[in-house]
Amino acid sequence: MTELVEPRAMGRALVRRDGVQKVRGTATYAVDTPVDLPAYCHPVQATIARGRVTAMDTTDAEAVDGVLAVLTPFDAERLASTEDAEYAVLQSDEVAFRGQLIGVVIAETSEVAREAADRVRVSYAGQPHDTELSADRDDLYAPGQVNAGHETDTAEGDVAAAMAAAAVTVEQTYETAMYHNNPLEPHATTALWDAAGDGFLTLWDSTQGVHPDRAAVCQVFGLAEGQVQVICPYVGGGFGSKGTPHANVMLTAMAARALPGRAVRLALTRQQMFFLAGYRTPTIQQVQLAADRDGRLSAIAIDVVEQTSKIKEFAEQTGVPARMMYASPSRRTTHRLAALDVPVPSWMRAPGECPGMFGPEVAMDELAEALAIDPIELRIRNEPEVDPETGKPWSSRHLVECLREGAERFGWAGRGPRGHRDGDWLVGTGVAASVYPTLRQATSTATIRFAGGRYVVEIGAADLGTGSWTILPQIAADALGVDVADVDARIGDTRHPVASVAGGSSGTNTWGSAIVQAAREFRGTFGTDPHDGAEASGDVDQAAQDEDHAAYAFGAQFVEARVHADTGEVRVPRLLGVFAVGRVINPRTARSQFIGGMTMGLSMALHENSVFDTRIGQVANHDLAEYHVVSNADVDAVEAYWLDEHDPYVNAMGSKGIGEIGIVGTAAAVSNAVHHATGVRVRSLPITLDKLLPALP
Ligand code: MOS
Repeated sequence: MTELVEPRAMGRALVRRDGVQKVRGTATYAVDTPVDLPAYCHPVQATIARGRVTAMDTTDAEAVDGVLAVLTPFDAERLASTEDAEYAVLQSDEVAFRGQLIGVVIAETSEVAREAADRVRVSYAGQPHDTELSADRDDLYAPGQVNAGHETDTAEGDVAAAMAAAAVTVEQTYETAMYHNNPLEPHATTALWDAAGDGFLTLWDSTQGVHPDRAAVCQVFGLAEGQVQVICPYVGGGFGSKGTPHANVMLTAMAARALPGRAVRLALTRQQMFFLAGYRTPTIQQVQLAADRDGRLSAIAIDVVEQTSKIKEFAEQTGVPARMMYASPSRRTTHRLAALDVPVPSWMRAPGECPGMFGPEVAMDELAEALAIDPIELRIRNEPEVDPETGKPWSSRHLVECLREGAERFGWAGRGPRGHRDGDWLVGTGVAASVYPTLRQATSTATIRFAGGRYVVEIGAADLGTGSWTILPQIAADALGVDVADVDARIGDTRHPVASVAGGSSGTNTWGSAIVQAAREFRGTFGTDPHDGAEASGDVDQAAQDEDHAAYAFGAQFVEARVHADTGEVRVPRLLGVFAVGRVINPRTARSQFIGGMTMGLSMALHENSVFDTRIGQVANHDLAEYHVVSNADVDAVEAYWLDEHDPYVNAMGSKGIGEIGIVGTAAAVSNAVHHATGVRVRSLPITLDKLLPALP
């Protein structure tokens, strides 16, 4: 058990502290940080998907008025480390994927840089590329582990025997598409080396973690941490795509080193982001469920096939949620990868859980249908007493309560096996469960100082639009026992104490734990009447960490879908989610996280799809004109609720993390609602009308 902080400021819907700056446009993002006389970069990208650059003629580019430098693999500086092939920019003539960085132009304006980049003439020795994912490739391999350090495969009991013996089985293949993160603010950096040229590097970078960002840059350039400062007070969205730096950061730092003393800016264009900023791998999920007539599961299996790049492995942990979600004596999960000539996949909101709760949660709906059991009741019948994966008791698990409260609020009672017709529209409802692990990172330190009658909390945390500026003072105020109005936060700078990445929905859990520890140190040392200048620090690793319980947040997603009987057009007028996420620190910013996640889940269900053209080896629809993301007109009502959940095991705030769970399960609930409306089961995302029309009644 953890000693919980008494909530006073926590739980209040305080307004965003950074709201005014954002509305007024005075919040400075990475490329609009005021600097003297900035120069601008534009990258040169490979136009083949595999092979070698044999020559680059930069004469015409250098002749453009205003061009300051052109760097290519043939003349760029050698980096200290090329261990991470994604970061090894301009270090070799090899092309590993179409769109890879092969050069950069630095110029007085971004327009000149872009014009000159177009004038770089590149010769290639191309080779046949291989970019097609399929489940029957003969070169699929098992990675050593999958993302976040999970085991690649797990097995318990005999799934095949259970399938053979079961009264009812479901055995289907489900697919999620390739998706690209599209935060409003593109990936962007301003870099400045001091005039000595090899001394000190300042980076204003749009990142989910200034300290991890700095560590990666130091590794690549062979610098000590004291030689680099990363500053990032505001981020215009990240969703994981800024959770690790990408090659653009290294390219900007390299470009700036060519012009010591001069700040150099690079903001990726929307199109460039589709090559360089990571993406969610497409997944192919073979799911098996076996159950008795009462719906009690005897087998759950998921065998996942997905892709990675040849130059760097990223293995999405898609099978992970099936390991713990429901009780079943036999279980199997596997992950197999195809290494392709494609850009490097990476994190996108709820890696693992988001795609991995699509197949299994649609399969549960199929099982419910086969058994003629209500899909909520089916889930309730398969509630595990303890975590099926580890055997540990839950720190708290209120999935059933989320399902019941959601059913009540949504108006589920009396729902029959089929929806109804409303004029030309077929109307149905669907449900799916959601889950996300409660994580806390191992490293983070906070400092609290008393100065001029106010408390100042310093930690290198990030606010991606999530609310950290606002909620970290709420945590500090309660831990100190003072009014939140008397607490200031300083975040987003490596000059502040080290902080972990804003990833895995772990930011608040981690930074908050360090802040509570610092507050306890502060009070222990200085009492309640501190002298001016009193200062104390706390580390997350000093904070109590429960190892005896399985800690997860849970939720239930409800969807109403309307499908046009003649055209197959799908509309979702209503999304409703109920979540059990421990203590909610700020209902206003939390609600934004939930409804944002649910909206992104709807987007995944109906619209988003990176259509990969395997002939040329790139995403064909690589802009927001053709990569469709939901907008306000696409969704009417999005309602998010949460239980008043108390969890004494997770951390001193009792918080479970809320950034990602909102996207988990949404797409399955949409597919289940579309099925209820039409009788058509769409197992491959997105749910577009071409998949519905041939089968509509
Ligand atoms: Mo989130 S995908 O863990 O940044």
